[in-house]
Amino acid sequence: MLEQLHSLEDQALDELRGMSTTAAVEKWHVAYLGRKGALTLFLRSVGQLPPQERPAAGLEANRIKTGLERAYIEKVEALHAQAAAGRLTTEQVDVTLPGRPVGPGHLHVITQTLRDIYSIFSAMGFQVLETPEVETDENNFQLLNIPPYHPARDMWSTFHTTRDGVLLRTHTSPGQIRAMRMYYPQPIRVILPGKCYRYEAVTSRHESMFYQVEGLAVGHDVTMGDLKGVLTEFARLMFGAERQVRFRCSYFPFTEPSAEVDMDCIVCGGKGCRLCKGTGWLEILGSGMVHPQVLRNGGYDPAKYTGFAFGMGPERIAMLKYGIDDMRLFYANDLRFLHQFA
Ligand code: DAH
Repeated sequence: MLEQLHSLEDQALDELRGMSTTAAVEKWHVAYLGRKGALTLFLRSVGQLPPQERPAAGLEANRIKTGLERAYIEKVEALHAQAAAGRLTTEQVDVTLPGRPVGPGHLHVITQTLRDIYSIFSAMGFQVLETPEVETDENNFQLLNIPPYHPARDMWSTFHTTRDGVLLRTHTSPGQIRAMRMYYPQPIRVILPGKCYRYEAVTSRHESMFYQVEGLAVGHDVTMGDLKGVLTEFARLMFGAERQVRFRCSYFPFTEPSAEVDMDCIVCGGKGCRLCKGTGWLEILGSGMVHPQVLRNGGYDPAKYTGFAFGMGPERIAMLKYGIDDMRLFYANDLRFLHQFA
């Protein structure tokens, strides 16, 4: 009987020694030490032995059980250690390798252009004021002299919201109303930069989201001469001191008179080329004297105050300044394009 026990012990230890996976070891544990394991069953049957054999058999079986449990734990630990050592070699990290370089970022070309515009106008006493991109129909159109159903609305294809009378601003001009209502009765000199939205097909010259920078000056003696001086100065600081500027009659509902501002072509200097389509001139912005009704809508009495306003597209300014021929490049996030403005 004791011999039987000892050969069971030898067999168990032999098997365990040859094992190389924890799954096999777990199976082994069940086979010998589990609830129906060989040793467990033996211990349970000790009571059926002749009384004189029971103490020795019980003692020996318990000694073997403790030994096998210890061998089991050692084996599991050894397998874990082996696996960890294996991982250390296969997942080795060479800490002496040079790291992947992380280059410094830089400002987007439109951000740079906006900052150029800010600094030129700041030097002329204009403050930067940001107004909301989600606007009311009233501010975006009606208070700027564009009544509902008026054909002038065709100039701005509009993104409406599900809320009646709330839209994405189609231009920064509603900021004029907000600025006037904020500053009244003080004189005003602000530029109003920000994103605008139009429900239009995206082409090389149109995006559905783009920037504008609006300008507004209101005071007791603001003249068209001031408008011409400020915008001529802007063109020369932005595009070169030798720039010629011309003011061409135009129409905007919120200015009277209105003018579009052209500068002599930066490529051909006015001789006529592909960029200026042979005209020698490039349009850079829209402008005019603030319409009396718009002044009134902002709270300023047009009998006592006058003002000028202008609106420009920074994308267009950047396209002219850097010779970019497709507006879609600005927001396509192609690093090969963007990195050229680092
Ligand atoms: N809001 C006009 C547009 O988006 C641009 C503009 C023209 C703004 C003349 C002005 C202005 O302030 O005086 O087409």
